Amino acid sequence: MQTKLTQALSIDFPMIMAPMFLVSNEAMLVEGMKNGIAATFPTLNYRNENELEQILDKLNVSKAGLTVRGTYGVNLIVQKTNPLYEKHLKICVDKKVPFYITSLGSPKEVIAQAHTYGAKVFCDVTNLEHAQKCADLGCDGFIAVGQGAGGHAGPNPLQIIVPALQKKFPNIPVIAAGGIADGAGIVSMLVLGAAGVSVGTRFIASTEATVSQDYKNAIVSSKMTDIVLTEKISGTPCTIINTPFAKKIGYKQSWLERLLSNNARTKKYFKMWVQISGMKKLEQSVKQGNYQTLWCAGQSVELINDILPCKAIIDRMKKETDEAFRQIAELSK
Ligand SMILES: Cc1cc2nc3c(=O)[nH]c(=O)nc-3n(C[C@H](O)[C@H](O)[C@H](O)COP(=O)(O)O)c2cc1C
Repeated sequence: MQTKLTQALSIDFPMIMAPMFLVSNEAMLVEGMKNGIAATFPTLNYRNENELEQILDKLNVSKAGLTVRGTYGVNLIVQKTNPLYEKHLKICVDKKVPFYITSLGSPKEVIAQAHTYGAKVFCDVTNLEHAQKCADLGCDGFIAVGQGAGGHAGPNPLQIIVPALQKKFPNIPVIAAGGIADGAGIVSMLVLGAAGVSVGTRFIASTEATVSQDYKNAIVSSKMTDIVLTEKISGTPCTIINTPFAKKIGYKQSWLERLLSNNARTKKYFKMWVQISGMKKLEQSVKQGNYQTLWCAGQSVELINDILPCKAIIDRMKKETDEAFRQIAELSK
């Protein structure tokens, strides 16, 4: 299949394995690449000295040995509150990462540096205003993050944001993210004008994901009504499974936390503190046997019924995509 995404990233199938904090790992990325998609991870998954360099070296070796068109990429949180941003960008540029996804801030520096060696930069966007800023800076694509997505979901449905972006920026590929877990979802987004899709939650229920069996089982057993938004992890609303622990700690920041987040003098450091302590809570949550569970997941849990190897997930989605195209063709006969 040829779309603007497969062309931009030289991949076989228009799908990105979305970057997921504490979930994405080398084994998942290698499987993604070997099966013709673009597989990504957040650089924040590798916070210890030399870890990021080592995984990038391994991924570059795996990519060089591919017999199909697949690739990998990194996600950089470009917000000022990410203390590792500059260090991680430098490492990624040195290792010539082929593809970047930026989130939560200005992608200016990433675009400038990535373009020095021909790498592509796609920016997470949830509205047209931020998309305009990214377009002005020369981004190569948008990841349109819609309602119900895992992580920091957008406020708008994909049925609106995808065609709106496509119409306003006809030369920039739009990738749909949020709630896609099967081939029908992929085809629906292609019909809306997306150049491809980015899939996160489906891959949490993969045998390769580094999270606990309890978390994977919860992805399989949860329904869309079990997903709630909480500000308790990063300060920005984030989708999680409504576990007893999530209910216990509540979903909103307190008035004091809000005050400190908005005060000009305290906001940078307070937000940094919120994010670091949120990351620690998540880190505990993904370990087996932990009862203080904050399990990040999107509404596509409704569509996920099994834990499978990444290859099987991708193969099935490809098959379902062919099937969905055939069904559409039947309708127009
Ligand atoms: C567990 C989890 C962790 C995530 N971590 C990140 C992250 O570190 N950086 C980021 O840009 N997006 C993150 N996301 C969002 C995904 O990259 C992607 O936009 C989203 O999963 C797509 O929606 P879906 O989960 O409905 O497929 C995360 C999503 C999940 C489910």
